[in-house]
Amino acid sequence: MSKRPTGYEFTKGFGGVVRYVCQKALTVTASLVGKALPQGRARRAIKRVYDKCITLVRPKIAYSKTWYDEVYHPAICAGQDFHEYVKTWQEYVRRIDEVLVALDLPGEKITNWLEVACMQGKTAYAILQRYPHVHMYMFDFSETAVDWLRKNFPTNYKWTLWRGDIRNIRNGDATYDGYFDVITCIDVTEHLPGEIYIDGIGEMYRVLKPGGCLILMQGNTHQPEHIHILSEEELVRDFCARGFDYIKTLPHRHHLFTKGANE
Ligand SMILES: C[S@@+](CC[C@H](N)C(=O)[O-])C[C@H]1O[C@@H](n2cnc3c(N)ncnc32)[C@H](O)[C@@H]1O
Repeated sequence: MSKRPTGYEFTKGFGGVVRYVCQKALTVTASLVGKALPQGRARRAIKRVYDKCITLVRPKIAYSKTWYDEVYHPAICAGQDFHEYVKTWQEYVRRIDEVLVALDLPGEKITNWLEVACMQGKTAYAILQRYPHVHMYMFDFSETAVDWLRKNFPTNYKWTLWRGDIRNIRNGDATYDGYFDVITCIDVTEHLPGEIYIDGIGEMYRVLKPGGCLILMQGNTHQPEHIHILSEEELVRDFCARGFDYIKTLPHRHHLFTKGANE
């Protein structure tokens, strides 16, 4: 299987032809005639146009665990160790840290943190850089992701990892009712079909401690696996409709919610 490029890139080919390789496309997708590599605004404008074109020619996926196990995750993590993987996400890790700084949690009071649909653990890792004492709980429904993470996630932190579905957040006999001080659900909801999304909101509400907080962010780029992008208003409304109290919006479209202390 071809390896997914880790970022969008502009390169020069024969005769000074500039080629653009899209981040999520598996192949070179466009050729642009030009003598110099585009910079700054021109670069961003070209990226926007071609990303949009790719969406038009690449249909959305039919959601399935098999697709995540056999296509999505192998393209991301095959052949890399954690250190190499997280290096390709440096900018992302920096953004999560900005969100945490803006959030300014009382770190010493936080014990149990749940990272929903943890993928290869980059968000969990970013959080542990700032709050190394917390116990990080993480799950994903993909065996490929979880097997890789179990072998590769740094062992100098406290963490519990399991393969599980957002529709039923439990690890064997542990059902985690009202257990987590903080939950992160980042770049997840846009991957879920409507019913699973709604069930997932209910489950996150169940496992959040009263007075705890949920940090939510949806990815909104045009990609085949983003089958359920909502407006930010709809997203917030759906969570409020299922019991969460909205507190505020943090940097980079991250939304902060809580659960009433008496629930
Ligand atoms: C973009 S990734 C999440 C990124 C991750 N939260 C992070 O911040 O690094 C989306 C993940 O959702 C997982 N997923 C999709 N459907 C799921 C479900 N029903 N239950 C649990 N995980 C699911 C996929 O396997 C994939 O790892």
